Amino acid sequence: MSGPILLFGAAGQVGRELTALAQARGVKLRGVTRDIADITATDAVAAAVADAKPCLIVNAAAYTAVDRAEKEPDLAHAVNAVGAENIARAAAGAKVPLVHLSTDYVFDGTKTGPYIETDPLAPLGVYGRSKAEGEELVRKACPNAIILRTAWVYGPYGANFLKTMLRLAASQERLRVVADQHGNPTATADIAEAILTVASALTATPTLTTLTDGITATTNTTAVTTGGTFHVAGTGVTTWHGFAAAIVDHQARWTHKRPPVDAIATADYPTPARRPANSALDSTLFARTFGFRAKPWPERMRETIDILLGGPAARGTPEGAP
Ligand SMILES: NC(=O)c1ccc[n+]([C@@H]2O[C@H](COP(=O)([O-])OP(=O)(O)OC[C@H]3O[C@@H](n4cnc5c(N)ncnc54)[C@H](OP(=O)(O)O)[C@@H]3O)[C@@H](O)[C@H]2O)c1
Repeated sequence: MSGPILLFGAAGQVGRELTALAQARGVKLRGVTRDIADITATDAVAAAVADAKPCLIVNAAAYTAVDRAEKEPDLAHAVNAVGAENIARAAAGAKVPLVHLSTDYVFDGTKTGPYIETDPLAPLGVYGRSKAEGEELVRKACPNAIILRTAWVYGPYGANFLKTMLRLAASQERLRVVADQHGNPTATADIAEAILTVASALTATPTLTTLTDGITATTNTTAVTTGGTFHVAGTGVTTWHGFAAAIVDHQARWTHKRPPVDAIATADYPTPARRPANSALDSTLFARTFGFRAKPWPERMRETIDILLGGPAARGTPEGAP
């Protein structure tokens, strides 16, 4: 790699994690935030690419407010479809490979079992539709783009479900969480690892890796040069309720407070946007192609809670800690 990785969406959950990981690994990365380049502005995107002369572009910028999108369809479309296309055009024009992030919400959730990359897209809401459109426009403008669909993203940065549950566990006597939507909680740490894995595959020579589950992975440059769509999500499937119960359970090691978590139905918690009942993603293709599989979600969840509660602001000592 000669030029830096150029990252759009540097202030987001994934953007900040990727920035931190690249710094820790000594990987050159230039982060771009909305105030530097609004991705809906073609010229601003082109200027950012021309200025950075990157070896790879990552688009982690997106309109991610799933419910608000129902009232702001034009803005969601502008960022997630037109903005994504602007970046794809700039990448193709500069002959720079592109990694574009997408979502499990492009599926309608009616499948039994995890979704694979070729399953038909049928988004239920405005956000999912705008992301599905973005995928299509990216493929058209930059056929060798790598599109990574991920899901249920959480981490130490920004707002997310895990941090909401930590706040509620500290302030509420009882939590109520939907138990009939299934998916893969995915740590930003795993997404950042996956992106850097793709980045290094650009220059790496093909290697064979035997993964823990026995799959033999061919990490090669073919997928990078021909592009494609891949699922990269946390390993293991649960419900929002299962995720919440595990979060509350682990945070109690630090806070010594463990409010009960009641399982409720989606119908008992109406939201403006419909969400898929099952949006679990099968990440096997990414593992086979790039030799990377995300950690089991409970392990990453515990790590993230320990980072958030075990820092200088920690209020206690975890049970069982020396
Ligand atoms: N969050 C999830 O649960 C989830 C699930 C599945 C897939 N994904 C996908 O994963 C990717 C990363 O998500 P994330 O959770 O990191 O999102 P995030 O935390 O909401 O960050 C998105 C970033 O995009 C920036 N942005 C929004 N509009 C922009 C514009 N017009 N120009 C430039 N930047 C703009 C935002 O800027 P500001 O900071 O200024 O608002 C924000 O920093 C997205 O493609 C998302 O669709 C997310």
